[in-house]
Amino acid sequence: MSVISKIRVAINGFALPLINFPKPFTFVGPDSSLSMCEEIVGLGIKRIIIITDGPLFKLGIANAVVDKLKGAGVEVDVFAEIEPDPGYELVLKGVERVKAFKADAILAIGGGSSIDGAKAVMMCHANDCHPEKLTGIWLYAAPRKRGLPFFAIPTTAGTGSEATIAAVVTNKQEGIKYFIADPKVVPSMAALDPKLMTGLPPFITAPTGMDALTHAVEAYISTMAYAETDELARMATASVMRNLPMAYSDGKNLQARERMAVASCMAGLAFTRAGVGYVHAFAHQMGGLYHVPHGLANAIIMPYVLDFSKPNCAHRLADLARIAGIGAAGNSDEQLADAFIARIRQMNADMQIPTVIKDLKKDDFEKIIERAFTEAHGTYGVPRYLTRDDARAMLAKLMP
Ligand SMILES: [Fe+2]
Repeated sequence: MSVISKIRVAINGFALPLINFPKPFTFVGPDSSLSMCEEIVGLGIKRIIIITDGPLFKLGIANAVVDKLKGAGVEVDVFAEIEPDPGYELVLKGVERVKAFKADAILAIGGGSSIDGAKAVMMCHANDCHPEKLTGIWLYAAPRKRGLPFFAIPTTAGTGSEATIAAVVTNKQEGIKYFIADPKVVPSMAALDPKLMTGLPPFITAPTGMDALTHAVEAYISTMAYAETDELARMATASVMRNLPMAYSDGKNLQARERMAVASCMAGLAFTRAGVGYVHAFAHQMGGLYHVPHGLANAIIMPYVLDFSKPNCAHRLADLARIAGIGAAGNSDEQLADAFIARIRQMNADMQIPTVIKDLKKDDFEKIIERAFTEAHGTYGVPRYLTRDDARAMLAKLMP
């Protein structure tokens, strides 16, 4: 960890609270996706392209939205080809569809991959470029054009992508995930419609929900956190810890689904400002190398990173324990931090989330560490820096 990287993080920590990050106008509640469609029609949109994934579309989840838009006289095309971890080629294919259809707006419907893929399509279309040209953190300094009017309907409660300035795209040849980070990718409107989430099976509800929790926790312990992100992260943490077990065990519980959707969005607003940390930096490598789903990798890795980070952020983890109702009066910060990490391990166990990355190979350790450090150092405000030896020891614990 170089001095320059530490200075970069310090500058970010100073500048981030001064930046006015855009927020989507958000519709919340059952059928809020249809309310948002009415607003889209009211904007005078005539030709909208829906970007989503094939299996989701075949399940009919987008049907009511498509019918609503068509019923109001809007021409609708559906690009239902988004795959998990969308790659450059897929993004370029989406751009061609947007051009061929002559769309005047883009609506993303789906999980993080669909929304991230749609963000990348929108930006590549507007700037007539390859996605590789857009990767990196540029914020307002980037001389890029704003894309078509963009809206999002998340169908999982986890990524918070509807609220973030980031899109993750994968270079499939290298097996590396890259960020497009730009405030211009934030949708102008988003709908958090729990009715579209009741069909999610428990094995998707669990890791996506833990992704939201990771966003909230990493934003809260970040050295770049500030008052606004603290508030969002605390509320999101408490809500996920209370509602995720309910959404997992009873997927039809509309109230738990809605609260998870709101928590996920709040966690998205928090981490897009305060950043994430090592959990994400290592989880991205597990996704790129072994195709471990993002939320699952986060859920598995989070307790190990928190164990390591605790000496420098016990008081912050203790705050989260208190607000989530974990621990007892009179407990020290250290005890509360331990109880908080133990609760995360218990949530994982209750939701059948493993404790190790089954495909992790010792031969890949150096590559993983190199890439995770490149991603994290100088970018994320991690509370305690890993040395290479620390990272090797942590990865050893993640071995099957
Ligand atoms: Fe995430």
